[in-house]
Amino acid sequence: MNIALIGYGKMGKEIEAIATSRDHTIGLRLDSANTIDNADLSNIDAAIDFSVPNSAVNNIKACLSVKLPIIVGTTGWMKNFEEVKDLCIHTQGALFYASNFSLGVNIMFNANEKLARLMNPHTSYNVSIEETHHTEKLDSPSGTAITLAEGLIKNLSSKSKWENKETSEDGSISIISHREGNVPGTHSVSYDSSVDNIELKHTAKGRAGFAIGAVVAAEWLPGKKGVFTMDDLLEN
Ligand SMILES: NC(=O)c1ccc[n+]([C@@H]2O[C@H](COP(=O)([O-])OP(=O)(O)OC[C@H]3O[C@@H](n4cnc5c(N)ncnc54)[C@H](O)[C@@H]3O)[C@@H](O)[C@H]2O)c1
Repeated sequence: MNIALIGYGKMGKEIEAIATSRDHTIGLRLDSANTIDNADLSNIDAAIDFSVPNSAVNNIKACLSVKLPIIVGTTGWMKNFEEVKDLCIHTQGALFYASNFSLGVNIMFNANEKLARLMNPHTSYNVSIEETHHTEKLDSPSGTAITLAEGLIKNLSSKSKWENKETSEDGSISIISHREGNVPGTHSVSYDSSVDNIELKHTAKGRAGFAIGAVVAAEWLPGKKGVFTMDDLLEN
């Protein structure tokens, strides 16, 4: 496949290494100085966007307008998700979005929902989420932490929203975000009672796990129409 990389930072470079090791070519590398607005997208089979929150929507629209399948890992643009989804369906395009492309985190998403169902009757436990990332991360909380919170809200009848701070408000889940060093991404969901603590935790050891998932999604998406995520990829 001939792949366009939209965003050529830490993730873009990691994806390039994985894609070339799987015999793909990189036909285009876009960044803040060389954006999609002036790019020639002909001869590209799929675009992979790991850029910045405020450019993702424009990048997706540009790819949909020329029927180029696009895989998006950029986080922090979810307020526009419904608009983008409608456009994808209307244009019969192909869009793949995941807040986290690592296999381990997607197993954690599944385990998080199962554990929440088990914990639902046990109201003596208070649930909270913590995430730690490197200091250059622009969005907070992480897209992964938001997906974990949504999994809790779906399965815990006592919870209906999340806040990106320590909160004891009824119905609210605390998401505590830390920004330090070069941490690629650590997430934990913790249930605390007066007698014990139960913790579900994922620690990324580097960025390769995210990059492999994004390249596998790029191999899977062409030829499909609609909006897809990791559940669709992992089930097939
Ligand atoms: N979904 C996942 O699994 C996952 C994993 C890691 C990171 N991320 C997300 O991916 C994004 C990128 O992360 P990173 O660590 O590579 O960041 P980074 O800062 O290292 O790289 C960002 C890149 O985007 C480029 N860019 C800026 N404006 C642009 C524009 N208008 N058009 C094209 N490119 C533009 C920058 O020049 C840079 O090359 C972030 O949103 C991060 O949260 C997602």
